[in-house]
Amino acid sequence: MIIGVPKEIKNNENRVALTPAGAAELVKRGHEVYVQATAGMGSGFTDEEYVSAGAQMLPTIEDVYGKAEMIIKVKEPIEPEYELIREGQLLYTYFHFASSEALTNAMLRNKSVCLAYETVELPDRSLPLLVPMSEVAGRMSAQEGAKYLEKTYGGRGMLLGGVPGVHPAKVLIIGGGIVGTEAAKMAAGLGADVTIMDVSLKRMRYLDDIMPANVKTMMSNEFNIRQMVQDHDLIIGAVLIPGAKAPNLITRDMLKTMKPGTVLVDVAIDQGGCIETTHPTTHDEPTFVIDDVIHYSVANMPGAVPRTSTLALTNATLPHAIDLAEKGWKQACREDNSLKKGLNVVDGKVVYKGVAEAFGLTYYDVDSIL
Ligand SMILES: NC(=O)c1ccc[n+]([C@@H]2O[C@H](COP(=O)([O-])OP(=O)(O)OC[C@H]3O[C@@H](n4cnc5c(N)ncnc54)[C@H](O)[C@@H]3O)[C@@H](O)[C@H]2O)c1
Repeated sequence: MIIGVPKEIKNNENRVALTPAGAAELVKRGHEVYVQATAGMGSGFTDEEYVSAGAQMLPTIEDVYGKAEMIIKVKEPIEPEYELIREGQLLYTYFHFASSEALTNAMLRNKSVCLAYETVELPDRSLPLLVPMSEVAGRMSAQEGAKYLEKTYGGRGMLLGGVPGVHPAKVLIIGGGIVGTEAAKMAAGLGADVTIMDVSLKRMRYLDDIMPANVKTMMSNEFNIRQMVQDHDLIIGAVLIPGAKAPNLITRDMLKTMKPGTVLVDVAIDQGGCIETTHPTTHDEPTFVIDDVIHYSVANMPGAVPRTSTLALTNATLPHAIDLAEKGWKQACREDNSLKKGLNVVDGKVVYKGVAEAFGLTYYDVDSIL
């Protein structure tokens, strides 16, 4: 198959969809890989590394779209890319269709085959191509929290782990899923006194088994949260209710009860946030202060560490890319139910229920097009 990797053109997107190692895997199997010049730069991969791996470099994005049967990307195509996509072309990338009617309509019009990372789903309902970014954001939340606890950043002037003779900082993590677990590991590793709150007893039993002794669990409810926020130094919001806006678990009135310089990191901000006073921020201006409490709520945290994020993402996406290249999308999806769930828009038809419902469009059963 002829595979194309364009350079991401969305603002501040430094990830790339294929590493030189991934290119080498595809080339080894007899596929042609075309990479747009400097596509890997933001993640620290040079054009020479791709060429050594057997890929061919193309100077412009038009060349890459013009040549490829399958485009592998990171972010959804944006407007200048719409007209470059042609009928029958396979696009394998994050789409998040339900949040953009313009994108959905554009992909319906050009009759491409859109396989979305975010809806590839395993039988246990987990989303294997979203997990790596949650892992990155979770680990980063503890790191950013530690930074903003420093006095120069406006925090309480505390070291997460304390020192001998001085108590460590107290970290509260609300939501013990992927993000919360990774945040807890990092904070606990630095010696903090960590509590994870969740509503799932089953999850907390598991966390209690695997976490070190400086991590405790506690049932998440308003009473407990109200009490806990008063003496915690770093509070990380990491809840998810699939398909719904995150609930406001920390309300405005609770800020007044926190210690000045407390740091709130609302990782769930991409789902609306679980702290009433947060709003999405960017890496250029990640924080703001309300009632002496620092709020960090960057909606695309993995964007700050594109090299780690690219490697994490491509570890998860490459096996499917190989399958798609070897078998073609129809056969690959017929053989793999999880991958089939990634099909959203195909040949001018919406084949993913959530997308059809979001915009009142006709829904076609995915099996009818395979
Ligand atoms: N800002 C970013 O850059 C970024 C990056 C990746 C993920 N995220 C977001 O982080 C959030 C968490 O993602 P995840 O992958 O860890 O999800 P997950 O499904 O693995 O975990 C969510 C956890 O929240 C728990 N939960 C639900 N309601 C709760 C409540 N009321 N109180 C306490 N816990 C509750 C669930 O039981 C579950 O354990 C999501 O909103 C996700 O979109 C943000």
